[in-house]
Amino acid sequence: MVVPGLGATLGIFGSGIWIIPLLLGTISYYRYDRVDPESKPIDQQNLLPEYDFIVIGGGSAGAVVANRLTENPKVNVLLLEAGPDENEVTDVPSLAAYLQLSNLDWSYKTEPSNTACLGMVNNRCNWPRGKVLGGSSVLNYMIYVRGNKNDFDHWGQLGNPGWDYKSVLPYFLKSEDNRNPYLARSPYHARGGYLTVQEAPWHTPLVAAFVEAGTEIGYENRDINGEKQTGYMIAQGTIRRGSRCSTAKAFLRPIRLRPNFHLALNAFVTKIEIDPKTKRAWGVEFVRHNRKQVIRARREVILSAGAINSPQILMLSGVGPRDHLEAMGIPVIKNLPVGNNLMDHLGFGGLTFVLDKPVSILQNRLQAAAATTEYVLNERGKGGLEGIAFVKTPYANQSLDWPDIQFHMAPASINSDSGAQVWKILGLKPELYKEMYGPIQDTYTWTIMPLLLRPRSRGWVRLQSKNPFVAPIMNPNYYDDPLDMLTMIEGAKIALQTANAKVFKQFGSRLYQKPLPNCKHLKFLSDEYLECGIRTISMTIYHQSGTTKMGPEWDDTAVVDPRLKVYGIHGLRVIDASIMPQVVSGNTNAAVIMIGEKGADLIKEDWR
Ligand SMILES: Cc1cc2nc3c(=O)[nH]c(=O)nc-3n(C[C@H](O)[C@H](O)[C@H](O)COP(=O)(O)OP(=O)(O)OC[C@H]3O[C@@H](n4cnc5c(N)ncnc54)[C@H](O)[C@@H]3O)c2cc1C
Ligand SMILES: *[C@@H]1O[C@H](CO)[C@@H](O)[C@H](O)[C@H]1NC(C)=O
Repeated sequence: MVVPGLGATLGIFGSGIWIIPLLLGTISYYRYDRVDPESKPIDQQNLLPEYDFIVIGGGSAGAVVANRLTENPKVNVLLLEAGPDENEVTDVPSLAAYLQLSNLDWSYKTEPSNTACLGMVNNRCNWPRGKVLGGSSVLNYMIYVRGNKNDFDHWGQLGNPGWDYKSVLPYFLKSEDNRNPYLARSPYHARGGYLTVQEAPWHTPLVAAFVEAGTEIGYENRDINGEKQTGYMIAQGTIRRGSRCSTAKAFLRPIRLRPNFHLALNAFVTKIEIDPKTKRAWGVEFVRHNRKQVIRARREVILSAGAINSPQILMLSGVGPRDHLEAMGIPVIKNLPVGNNLMDHLGFGGLTFVLDKPVSILQNRLQAAAATTEYVLNERGKGGLEGIAFVKTPYANQSLDWPDIQFHMAPASINSDSGAQVWKILGLKPELYKEMYGPIQDTYTWTIMPLLLRPRSRGWVRLQSKNPFVAPIMNPNYYDDPLDMLTMIEGAKIALQTANAKVFKQFGSRLYQKPLPNCKHLKFLSDEYLECGIRTISMTIYHQSGTTKMGPEWDDTAVVDPRLKVYGIHGLRVIDASIMPQVVSGNTNAAVIMIGEKGADLIKEDWR
């Protein structure tokens, strides 16, 4: 789900991205900084030798946990974040794609694959992750989707009391400040929370057509975060006054002056200190400004480093699969299936529709300075992902509201930035990009990206090295289970059906008919062709999760219990996307923020 529209809106990049922070910095100084109470959090230089709680990672979940724990003035909290603070560029929704492969990105890559990402250099998928205060909520595309009621009820049925839908809904509402009046009276939405949620202030006419196309083929237009999920909708986003509302902005800026809250930026955690005899996590080792330090935790260490780094840090600390740790030469403190159960949402980015009418986004038709000034002065940040839909293939249980495919609709495609950034962040093979997208570089296009909501395939994360600065090995095992592919093929067909709806005729919209070079030998749009396409233009939707699975005591695939405590270790919890037993049916940010809210409450209950 690379969103060309988001990253591709401004035409300036050929001539130098440097001018944008300059321009924005100047304008935002005059416009905001003097009047805005949301000043940046303080990067504490003098740390104490000991805190009640140490939170590792200030991302989507960690920012929430740090906020909620410091509500009690009697406890103090240290938040350690490997990256720096956000900057002027991260605020601008349309520049999201330009944050990838920058110094704010861990810039991970999967292992080479022969089942997916065949169109990418060395068959490796790029996996961006935020290395910045706010974590991946700073790099993300801001789509606000919570997941399906049945997902959480399923978590509960797996033996996790307190995680069924009825129990977690209050935590979604606790964070939310929904600014769209039409949702104000819904029991599924709330006002007054820290996290601003609203529709993007500006849309192309294509998204209204997309929603109408849904009704043409028998789906309803509905709030997919409400009573039911199946249907089509204009996307809601974590956006505030046209700019990005990361969890750092939402949850950390307002608490910057709490005396019991210390934040250390550029603090790279290398190990959790666990006493091998008592099995108690008593501190955290990290490197900051080239200096190694250890700080003690009086009560608990909370690991919120995300679905790749949380398992990595656990394994480095001696908590993980025994065989693997022994092979790496790491003394085993607790044998647990850390790093297993890796899930992601993988989409298909190869359904490009060309348009006769100029109703989508083409980067080189936009004037950068004009667009930037418009963002700052008129609070009209342009979102690139405009439409969301949840549909059921024949493989879904037709009597349940539990769709198996999600669509992201974008008023742009891989071609729309004339080769400036999108193909690079996808890691596309240059010859493939040239052959497929060269001919339509200056054509208005749009896309529907189908993705598989509940993959059956599972991958894993393992250490590549004992050196904490070396990235772990990531193997998602995409499409390992044949049913995953069969479902995706049907999902692609429903996407084609949507784009064939009458409502799109007014724009002269039609499928771009050029076959992919490696799939040319197959009949265009046959199941075999679609499968080949899905394996070639595979796009991660960036929802890595599941690697420290939550489960009951009798579940030998579980790493944390339903109170998010690591089995067999005292004073250590994981609170982030890693704990999902099954990835939610939707974008993960909102669910991870909910996990942060709920996790913080569990800690408070246990220390009452
Ligand atoms: C490009 C992109 C687009 C996305 N689009 C959407 C979207 O539109 N909607 C949506 O709902 N979701 C989206 N997601 C997914 C969503 O943002 C993530 O699921 C969510 O942010 C994960 O939260 P987390 O707390 O688990 O991890 P993160 O937010 O990644 O936080 C982990 C934090 O820990 C820090 N850390 C890691 N290792 C260490 C260490 N050793 N020492 C110190 N700190 C460390 C990291 O720097 C980071 O700040 C997107 C993600 C990406 C990357
Ligand atoms: C579909 O869901 C219903 C309701 O939960 C259930 O009774 C039925 O067995 C399911 N059907 C299939 C084929 O799984």
